[in-house]
Amino acid sequence: MSSRSNVSHVFYRSFKTGFPSAGRSAGAYITDAAGKQYLDASGGAAVSCLGHGHPDIVAAIKDQLDKVEFAHTSFFTSEPAERLAEILSEKAPGDRWRTYYLSGGSEANEAALKLARQIQVERGQASRDHYISRQQSYHGNTLGALSVSGRKSNLELFGPVLLPNIRKIMPCFAYRWQEPEETEQAFGQRAAGELEQQIGELGADHVIAFIAETVSGATIGCVPPVPGYFAEIRRICDENGALMILDEVMCGMGRCGSLFACAEEGVVPDMITLAKGLGAGYQPIGALMVREELAEEIERGSGAFSHGHTYVGHPVACAAGLAVQQVFARDGLIPRVTRMGAKLRVALQDQFGAHDHIGDIRGRGLFQAVEIVEDRQTKAPFAASDKLAARTKKRAMDNGLICYPFAGTADGVSGDHVLLAPPFIISDEQIGELVDKLSRTIDEVIADAL
Ligand SMILES: Cc1ncc(COP(=O)(O)O)c(C=O)c1O
Repeated sequence: MSSRSNVSHVFYRSFKTGFPSAGRSAGAYITDAAGKQYLDASGGAAVSCLGHGHPDIVAAIKDQLDKVEFAHTSFFTSEPAERLAEILSEKAPGDRWRTYYLSGGSEANEAALKLARQIQVERGQASRDHYISRQQSYHGNTLGALSVSGRKSNLELFGPVLLPNIRKIMPCFAYRWQEPEETEQAFGQRAAGELEQQIGELGADHVIAFIAETVSGATIGCVPPVPGYFAEIRRICDENGALMILDEVMCGMGRCGSLFACAEEGVVPDMITLAKGLGAGYQPIGALMVREELAEEIERGSGAFSHGHTYVGHPVACAAGLAVQQVFARDGLIPRVTRMGAKLRVALQDQFGAHDHIGDIRGRGLFQAVEIVEDRQTKAPFAASDKLAARTKKRAMDNGLICYPFAGTADGVSGDHVLLAPPFIISDEQIGELVDKLSRTIDEVIADAL
């Protein structure tokens, strides 16, 4: 042990703040080692969709450990991997799908970017060398996924080492980008039109794929697309031979009230990436789903995706993912998301609908956010130096609430929102507790800032 025995050997996410030690968890709550209880209203970062300590998922994991704890996918497949992929294929929009398993969302998006490039090359279109994504997006922290992400906060530090061949278009974020005289429909067409413009500038023979979050998550806070936006994106991709990748790492797996968020948009993308709710936090698992016809192009071509990690298709992770799907179906949890999401929305509206410093309440299903502003009329945010999001996160913890605030909502630097992603099992009483604690937290933080 080091002579500085009171100093931890863990490299924490931040050196500026202390972290209580998570001791126990059950249902919608986590209790720290000192006995303080927190209502987990964001599932960490939209992960714990079944709440904590779910006996069926724990049992499925134990059962798989008793059968096969690990079998490398360059030698074996496994029953849970096969069964989970079958369910995902049946439930995803469109026809058949193949699932390539990974260990998280960043890995899933890395794999999607690489598979898209490989498909284009195998089609004889090796000149395609650019990706197009959106400003104020997030696709992960590995260098490829970060390169297509649009968070300004990352640019100063990592900009010089990110992939060069990326173009970014505007987000489909009506509260901040829609013109006063513009209809939602017209705004959606304008936002999607930027994709066509970028492809025009680059030349279609230089575009591999477009990637976007179906419902934007952490960076701008639960922003559903306006009607018609993704249909237009699909048309533009099809006309230009670009592949369409939808990132449902945060918004998918029932979070927005349908297993796949894109089902509500009436479009079938070429690839869908998943993580978070796929394993509900019981195991680290991500997935890249690709349309069968595209997988068959590789099958007929080189015969293998030039990719792989040691833990892809980990049988215990797949067993957890399979059990999550079984519990969703058995307990009717996805329709419950829509019902409880509507209740959460009403409760947020009642509490914050006339609040001087809440500019917008938005989201879909149990994926809701409130945007904090200094001036409701002009939508002017608080100064970034007020650090409202960071202070909200800390004050919420003090008040026994886990929520997911984020800064940079308005323009990548200033603006703050609080993202909520409670478990699908949340009760009416817990929605009341969530909104009470959130309201107290926001009022305390704003009172300090003014
Ligand atoms: C939309 C989206 N994509 C990708 C990721 C990255 O996932 P992971 O943190 O599992 O690598 C996240 C994480 O928050 C996300 O929200």
